[in-house]
Amino acid sequence: MTASADQDNAVLDRIIGERRSHRKFAAGIPSNEMIESIIHAGLHAPYAAAAIGSGTDYFRRFFVIRKDSKAMQALIPLVFGEAVAMADALERETARNAGLREQAAGFLERLAMIRGMGMVPGVGTAPVYLVVAEKKGFPPVEAQSLFACMENMWLKATALGLGFQVVSITAQMAENTAFCHILGIEPGKWALMGCAIGHPAGTLSPSIRPSEKEVTAWLE
Ligand SMILES: Cc1cc2nc3c(=O)[nH]c(=O)nc-3n(C[C@H](O)[C@H](O)[C@H](O)COP(=O)(O)O)c2cc1C
Repeated sequence: MTASADQDNAVLDRIIGERRSHRKFAAGIPSNEMIESIIHAGLHAPYAAAAIGSGTDYFRRFFVIRKDSKAMQALIPLVFGEAVAMADALERETARNAGLREQAAGFLERLAMIRGMGMVPGVGTAPVYLVVAEKKGFPPVEAQSLFACMENMWLKATALGLGFQVVSITAQMAENTAFCHILGIEPGKWALMGCAIGHPAGTLSPSIRPSEKEVTAWLE
């Protein structure tokens, strides 16, 4: 490996190790250039070209919603409403299904915490809520594409020293007419994923994982 490839490799390893979920943000707003460079990274993530075919629409679109904007004020109750509806539906279902109740216990707890807070973490709690829309296709692999985009943006935010939090309930908003109307997209045609971005309020340790040896089988 050349010295420069060695350096690139070391930088990439460091950024991968430092990528963490930040859930507390400082008040300062990241610059538009920083947000645009994160979007650039997301746009360069792979997408399922064969699944969406050729069309006139873009395969992926980005929506930047700043804290205290009119759009944010409108979106906060819509996302919270979806979380409450999801919690209610899941509670009804788990009341009839003990296996599911056990399996969903952690998620139910998280939904109860959100209900108690009166808002969804990441939507109004960070300087920027960034929503990504991925065109739906066949086979339906847009969720996977969206997460490739998320990961690129996450690594870029880490390289910029910014905090990043996935807001996965955004996926449930894809059929929500009012939410899609604010974004200016047709409900049902796009899959959604979101994240919160801002300067982190504190530092986190690099990510801790088992060693690759513990989780890898080399098959003969
Ligand atoms: C598909 C997916 C959905 C996630 N959804 C959320 C979320 O809605 N809110 C959140 O705070 N973190 C979310 N996370 C972040 C995980 O909780 C986090 O990656 C995991 O706890 C490991 O911590 P780390 O990211 O700091 O390494 C999500 C991660 C993935 C991969």
